[in-house]
Amino acid sequence: VKVDGKSWRTIWPEPDGSVGIIDQRHLPHAFVVERLTDVLSVARAIADMHVRGAGLIGATAAWGMYLAAREAGERDFFGDVERSAALLCETRPTAVNLSWAAGRVLAVLRAAPPLREARLAAARAEAEAITDGDAAMCASIGHHGLALFRDLHERRSGAVVNVLTHCNAGWLAFVDHGSATAPIYAAHDAGIPVHVWVDETRPRNQGASLTAWELGQHGVPHTVIVDNAGGHLMQHGRVDLVITGADRVTRQGDAANKIGTYLKALAARDNGVPFYVALPSSTFDWRMRDGLREIPIEERSADEVRFITGHDGEGVRSVRVTPPGSPAANPGFDVTPARLITGLITERGVCAAREEAIVELFPDHKDPA
Ligand code: MRU
Repeated sequence: VKVDGKSWRTIWPEPDGSVGIIDQRHLPHAFVVERLTDVLSVARAIADMHVRGAGLIGATAAWGMYLAAREAGERDFFGDVERSAALLCETRPTAVNLSWAAGRVLAVLRAAPPLREARLAAARAEAEAITDGDAAMCASIGHHGLALFRDLHERRSGAVVNVLTHCNAGWLAFVDHGSATAPIYAAHDAGIPVHVWVDETRPRNQGASLTAWELGQHGVPHTVIVDNAGGHLMQHGRVDLVITGADRVTRQGDAANKIGTYLKALAARDNGVPFYVALPSSTFDWRMRDGLREIPIEERSADEVRFITGHDGEGVRSVRVTPPGSPAANPGFDVTPARLITGLITERGVCAAREEAIVELFPDHKDPA
């Protein structure tokens, strides 16, 4: 992806062995790059959301495991890296990409010859493979999702395709391209006229601050709306399809995504609007079936609800929007049941949100792990 004409990914290895990231807390007001030098700084960057989004959390954890291997002592190498893996996995509970990526690096460390250099080389190669793989899966999601836009464009006799998205499942949530945004970028680049309704996505406003910024950088027409506007727009025929990302999808197709997604799916069903979830296969949790019962939902700080951050023309400020004494609650995600999902857009193609259809695309996961 290009930012002001320069190519970027959201994470990259630096020549000195540290890991570069974009500190997303500052967007859209400033583009700030940060270097992570040890596993503790990686854990903080994930927990405090310098980086966020399922795919990027996974890639960051992979590089965190590489740094963990560099820090681990000779005497209790695996004790040290396992403690680091636990530290990383505790940072955020909902996106399954985190434990998936940390587990992959841990597995190659175990399989590597018991020599420091060989272990570091193996961990680094696996972190690179996870990073490149994430970008490749998202590019492929774009390719498969493009067909949906072509179809709608034809059926609407060439009119603009209006798509609604929630939160940020853009390139900032992955290494590149994004999941929900990949088909949007692909359609826009193919000359299909697209307009995106961007849910602001309280409390942290990833839609208003990240998705809107990304789409603007790419020149995709978009409009930011408050989270409660989507149903009204659907009732008036102003949304042709909804595409969201996901943080964890079960083998029967239940999808956890940023809080509020479920309400969009209900409104879409009531109005006959197709509702798609885009995800790389690293976001499937092959051990889970019932998303409502099984997916852990992160409860974040109530201050994210009580306060709102923005630019007042002079600088970035945070202001309280609630009475000082009012308690607030902040569940970060909700689960959209498979029955409300029209289809899943994956790197292997589009399928129904049903176990048989999912494992037909991913036969290697026919049996629960
Ligand atoms: O809390 P975040 O910003 O890490 O939440 C993740 C998200 O941005 C969304 O839930 C997204 O749609 C899925 S992640 C690709």
